[in-house]
Amino acid sequence: MSGQAGRHTQHSMMKILNVVGARPNFMKMAPIIEALNRFPQDFHHRLVHTGQHYDERMSQSFFNDLGMPKPDVDLEVGSGSHAEQTAKIMVEFEKVCLRERPDLVIVVGDVNSTMACTITAKKLGIRVAHVEAGLRSRDMGMPEEINRLCTDVLCDYLFTTDHFANENLAAEGVDRNKVFFVGNVMIDTLLKHRELARQLDLVERLGLESGRFATLTLHRPSNVDNPEVLEEILDALGEVSREIPVVFPVHPRTRKMIENFGFAGRFSSAEKPEGLWMTEPLGYLEFLHLNMHSMMVITDSGGLQEESTVLGVPCITLRHNTERPITCEVGTNFIVGNSRSRILQHAMKVVNGAAPRGSVPEKWDGRAAERIVDVLRSLGARAEDAQEFREVSGL
Ligand code: UD1
Repeated sequence: MSGQAGRHTQHSMMKILNVVGARPNFMKMAPIIEALNRFPQDFHHRLVHTGQHYDERMSQSFFNDLGMPKPDVDLEVGSGSHAEQTAKIMVEFEKVCLRERPDLVIVVGDVNSTMACTITAKKLGIRVAHVEAGLRSRDMGMPEEINRLCTDVLCDYLFTTDHFANENLAAEGVDRNKVFFVGNVMIDTLLKHRELARQLDLVERLGLESGRFATLTLHRPSNVDNPEVLEEILDALGEVSREIPVVFPVHPRTRKMIENFGFAGRFSSAEKPEGLWMTEPLGYLEFLHLNMHSMMVITDSGGLQEESTVLGVPCITLRHNTERPITCEVGTNFIVGNSRSRILQHAMKVVNGAAPRGSVPEKWDGRAAERIVDVLRSLGARAEDAQEFREVSGL
């Protein structure tokens, strides 16, 4: 007993592997890294990029905009079918875990990298924390829903963004001691960069008028992989664009589909600030700038529903469900599906000034990462946890 006590009096550093893979992960991880850096005596952390997203505009430009450190490890897995991508990440991440022997892996969001690294770490007996846990769309046709369920059921620490997530986890029988309601790390990043983004001149350079255009994003397979569905959406947006310009930074998956289905001709030239027109994917700051100056956002993204809620910009979501109902409950989000008539009806309501402004959800205040690190420090203080964990895992 005395030997054990002696062993635990030594201050032990928690060794963490932070995982990112795809575009929406970067803005969630950036504030966590920053918050961990405030306690160099408590944490030793390394950043692993799985390489799920790899284009300069889908990855590197976010590191630059967010001032994130270069990844310590890049798994370079690239694109593939779900099974291929998930399997490649698992094989490569297992090697990193065995080499690095972390006490904790932190995963964020709901992409394939999130799930793959969780499964890999847990099978090595390594503890895993999931940031943005408990979100549920109840739509098993969404690959992200499968990722969320698999990740949450395995994780040791579940950091949540809202009361719906807490309720979902409780309903699934998750031990409430594992759940920490900390707020929204993506909003930490938004609030930090808001003024910088406001001052850019992109809207001006594009010849647009602040508050007099719509920003569009589309990338969900359920909207873009089927030509009939995509055509109906583009028809509706074509009509919206007769009222106000619609700017469309195009995800690589969607660009490919638009070209494959022969829809490219529907987009007017980027020099002409009217109608529906495409741009390359934008960096974090430029996109935030566009969002905050928009009359409305039209999207099938998850994160954008949250960002527009905080900015008070009306959001028309082209899906039949959302894993983020808080943005409808208190925010600016409307779930309209993907039929032409519903899209048009809601967009015209906003054009005619009929959209309510909404308010900001609880704890979306720029301090979520700080709360996460407080929790981790309290865990780290229980040195026996880390020690016991190493013994169990054999690492
Ligand atoms: C992924 C996430 C999704 C997230 C989205 C944000 C999963 C299952 N999906 O979807 O939850 O909302 O990221 O962007 O994890 N491609 C490129 N360059 C890149 C990355 C992708 O050209 O840097 C193209 C490739 O053709 C690839 C396709 O986009 O096959 C799809 O990429 P993938 O990572 O599989 O899924 P996303 O649709 O990006």
